[in-house]
Amino acid sequence: VYKVQAEPFGESFPCDEDESILAAALRAGLFLRYGCKHGGCGTCKVSLVEGDVDVAASSYALSPAEREAGTVLVCQSYPADDCVIDVTAMDLDEEEFHRGDTSGEFTMRVETAHELASDIWQVTLVHEPGTRMPFVAGQFVNVEIPGASGVRSYSMANCPSADDRIELICKYLPGGLFSTFMTRPDVAGEQVRVAGPFGSMAVRLSHRDVVMVAGGSGLAPLLSMLRALARKGSERDITLFFGARSAAELYALDEIGKLLETMRGLTFVPVLAEPHEAWDGATGLVTDAIAAHRPSYSGTDAYLCGPPGMIAAATKILVSRGVREKNISFDAFVPTGDAKVSA
Ligand SMILES: Cc1cc2nc3c(=O)[nH]c(=O)nc-3n(C[C@H](O)[C@H](O)[C@H](O)COP(=O)(O)OP(=O)(O)OC[C@H]3O[C@@H](n4cnc5c(N)ncnc54)[C@H](O)[C@@H]3O)c2cc1C
Ligand code: FES
Repeated sequence: VYKVQAEPFGESFPCDEDESILAAALRAGLFLRYGCKHGGCGTCKVSLVEGDVDVAASSYALSPAEREAGTVLVCQSYPADDCVIDVTAMDLDEEEFHRGDTSGEFTMRVETAHELASDIWQVTLVHEPGTRMPFVAGQFVNVEIPGASGVRSYSMANCPSADDRIELICKYLPGGLFSTFMTRPDVAGEQVRVAGPFGSMAVRLSHRDVVMVAGGSGLAPLLSMLRALARKGSERDITLFFGARSAAELYALDEIGKLLETMRGLTFVPVLAEPHEAWDGATGLVTDAIAAHRPSYSGTDAYLCGPPGMIAAATKILVSRGVREKNISFDAFVPTGDAKVSA
């Protein structure tokens, strides 16, 4: 058994050799932010200040610069020595840290599931009467697939105020477990176990301009954030880039149209990589559109969601155009596939 000390709280907890630091902290009744528990989401990043850890799986969620700087994912880190970790980046207050894990498990029912655009589905889940799951726009849930082991992560697309249900936007992956489940003709009415809410991506309280970059189903959490901002009457300058291959993959355009009417500061830039029909909008990669749109994004907060490759490329262009790395939040939609999901 090793000792792990979490700074800045100065709290130590025991961790078995074959136990992740995250599992040990939660077992000790402490809270560290987490989401997927399999190295996919990056929510559980901390700095390893002293000691050594074995890492279970390499992850897209850490950039080479972060690895170099000693950032580790606690869900994937097993102590090889007594360790000191600094959890400042999780932005936890003392009370939250000592309160333990407050995310919950819920039984929900599939209300509707239908195709919104090519290979993009909208799935609505409803809580049992009297149950709710307060969440912050930008967070996600882990859904268990009936009859299968493991969970799949999906971000809420709806506004948190509609708290009797959650709306998910799911990319159809051929042969994928949840993909197969949601496309079953008789899926409406099925019960699923849902755990959450998880994740630390949320609109920061600031007056800075905002740039949002979505690829495919990555629009989901950004739509939730925009809906929440619209409800608050936000007048912030927000530019939403939405990348897709063709017009057939674009969706939620009516909803975005309504947001454009109510949010004076909102600009929408859909970008098609392979426009087949007449299209007078931006073309190419979403990164080309970001570069063409403004010479500088200095002083901007950025929120990025979608495939890991798009996130890496968008981060690079935004940083080169003046966005500070600490002002970039992202959720990389890493496919779970056969990845081991730790308990
Ligand atoms: C924090 C977080 C939030 C997420 N939120 C969302 C969300 O809101 N919406 C969403 O759609 N996804 C989201 N994802 C990603 C989603 O969880 C995964 O894509 C998940 O694996 C899908 O589950 P599945 O059961 O359909 O497929 P799985 O059973 O996981 O199987 C996926 C299989 O498809 C293969 N595959 C991967 N990409 C492709 C491709 N482009 N074409 C064909 N095959 C492919 C993989 O190799 C794998 O074998 C999120 C992920 C994270 C970490
Ligand atoms: S909880 Fe560790 S990477 Fe998702």
